[in-house]
Amino acid sequence: MNTPARFAVIGNPIAHSLSPDVHAAFARDCGVDLEYEKLFAPEDGFDAAASRFFETGGRGMNVTAPFKGDAAAWVDELDENAALTESVNTIAVLTGSRTRGYSTDGPGLVADLKTQWGLALTGLRVLVIGAGGASRGIVPALLAEGPKRLVVANRTFARAEALAKKFSHLSDSELEAHSFDLDEASFDVVVNATSGDVQSASANLARALKGALCYDLSYALDRDTAFCSEAMHFGALEARNGLGMLVWQAALSFEIWHGVLPDAETVLAGLRRS
Ligand code: ATR
Repeated sequence: MNTPARFAVIGNPIAHSLSPDVHAAFARDCGVDLEYEKLFAPEDGFDAAASRFFETGGRGMNVTAPFKGDAAAWVDELDENAALTESVNTIAVLTGSRTRGYSTDGPGLVADLKTQWGLALTGLRVLVIGAGGASRGIVPALLAEGPKRLVVANRTFARAEALAKKFSHLSDSELEAHSFDLDEASFDVVVNATSGDVQSASANLARALKGALCYDLSYALDRDTAFCSEAMHFGALEARNGLGMLVWQAALSFEIWHGVLPDAETVLAGLRRS
């Protein structure tokens, strides 16, 4: 009997990751035999853990916080989106032992917005809150959809400014940086890409949530995230957490590894029921 191919998700912390469940469901649906484990690594231990995993026959790895930047530096080559975002959430082994890094976070978010809300961003006003790694990972994919305006608002203005500057060449959309004191607070879509608690960080930020479709990159299975509750409190049209993005970015990873795009919507519905 053949041993199943080995895959893993690496992070710190990692105990609560749903990625093994998602990949197991995809594998069942697509008739693929695989093992998928969680790998914990110390904060300075990504390179050693990744080397060990691939040297011992691992075929592919998902990467989550805080290692997406480490992974981008560690792989032998990067696909275009990973090079642009300096972020890798998926590693595949090419011929021999060469590794290639991909970033499916941004495309995963866009796919989820399209399938859950039927939402095309073309011509819309989009606010992204946060200017760290998570924001860097999604802004190029959002810009590729051609919003009218994309504002990056961050507690530390200089980081928002740096991020807007880095990606300004990518599209004709208006790309602006702000602190939380937004001068205009009218958006169609608001995405929370911060890692902390931004609730009521500013009255202007709260106003921006009103009437918008609000999306939190953080996910939770059985409850609203704090951002989603806050968004509804301030009059959001609707608020969703990042469970759909989690499933979609995983589906795109699965496609890279196995050459078949699994049915993300069915697996997402199953997770919600579970
Ligand atoms: P990640 O890779 O998760 O994006 P990061 O690079 O540390 O992590 O960035 C975290 C983001 O969350 C940043 O935008 C950070 O704002 P600063 O750049 O001002 O630090 C934001 N953030 C974290 N805690 C926050 C808080 N309590 N209020 C507002 N923003 C917060």
